[in-house]
Amino acid sequence: MTFVVTESCIRCKHTECVDVCPADAFREGPNFIVIAPHYCIDCALCVTECPIHSIFEESDVPEDQVRFITLNAALAEIWPPISCKKAALADASQWARVKDKFDQLSMMPADMARPADRH
Ligand code: SF4
Ligand code: F3S
Repeated sequence: MTFVVTESCIRCKHTECVDVCPADAFREGPNFIVIAPHYCIDCALCVTECPIHSIFEESDVPEDQVRFITLNAALAEIWPPISCKKAALADASQWARVKDKFDQLSMMPADMARPADRH
């Protein structure tokens, strides 16, 4: 089992979750964060840390978010680790209220250098 980051994290990336993880399981993309399933030790510490409730235990992922289970695993293979909290993206509070924002997800590590994603 593992825990899974879901859609609400996109363009928010508050990163409180990262600070509490004892397993260094988080991986960082340009505007989203994922959990590497083979590193996650199912401690659940990250769940209550996320201010917008983006993280679910794998078996509790809402039906409309199920694709994020495989997406977390796939992106964890190509994104670098993150183990310390950093500032949330500049317009995080605005994007936290957006329900359907999958098309905003930047998947490529190279995108992290693009000015539009740095905020
Ligand atoms: Fe890290 Fe625990 Fe969250 Fe897994 S459940 S990502 S080990 S804090
Ligand atoms: Fe994302 Fe919440 Fe962590 S917004 S970066 S899952 S604290």
